[in-house]
Amino acid sequence: MSLKNKITAIQQAKGNRPLAVLTAYDYPTGRILDEAGVDLILVGDSLGMVVLGYPDTTHVTLDMMVHHTAAVARGVTNAIVIGDMPIHSYDTPDQAVESATKLVEAGADVIKLEGGIKQVEKVRAIVAAGIPVMGHHGMLPQRVLEEGGYKKKGKTEEESCAILEGALALQNAGCFSIVLESIVPELAEKITTELDIPTIGIGCKAANQKQTCDGEVAVITDVIGSYPWFVPPFATTRANVADDIKRAVKEYIGSIG
Ligand code: KIV
Repeated sequence: MSLKNKITAIQQAKGNRPLAVLTAYDYPTGRILDEAGVDLILVGDSLGMVVLGYPDTTHVTLDMMVHHTAAVARGVTNAIVIGDMPIHSYDTPDQAVESATKLVEAGADVIKLEGGIKQVEKVRAIVAAGIPVMGHHGMLPQRVLEEGGYKKKGKTEEESCAILEGALALQNAGCFSIVLESIVPELAEKITTELDIPTIGIGCKAANQKQTCDGEVAVITDVIGSYPWFVPPFATTRANVADDIKRAVKEYIGSIG
């Protein structure tokens, strides 16, 4: 299926079926997720923490994202591959187009960037260059240092209005979809109702609550339990890969000699 048709299918899913999005950072994971039937695969800058061992995403560079996007893309045939734009790779519209082009040349089908109204000109420029854009609004991990931590968004009327306004501005600028991160469930539901494009939530509901968005994105290491040292409270871990690896390695050590 062409990319245009894949994006149309994603947009037509709104209101009809939930969209499944997972992160991947390497070839085997990309290939396994694609074979399992996930809709979109995000080569997220969460790479910084769960693969590269940094404390947050502010250490991730465009070269790192290009390297990992290429690896994931080599394993994916059906899902849409999203290349995440790292911090300071889209400070101006021209730089945003240049960086997005590099991610597409590496194998991304579309790109994602963080922020609301401030990013409108950059979204417009990337879309005008023929590259589909996914927005990312609410809690913005690339701002974690300025904000002094990961904080739930939309708790006040003023903040809620600003986030809704930002989401509408991203849609009007041409985003085909938008990630909503760590915003209160009522606001996530409101934005999902008001927007025509699909919303993809993360941390916008408790683990046992009903969906508040059109789809959900999760960090693969949270889902499979391969990064057990920190799992966010909203995540559901469905396998225990870290323990499996330890068991297999101990068995291997015991089998030597
Ligand atoms: O980098 C990432 O994994 C993300 C998701 C948390 C949405 O941006």
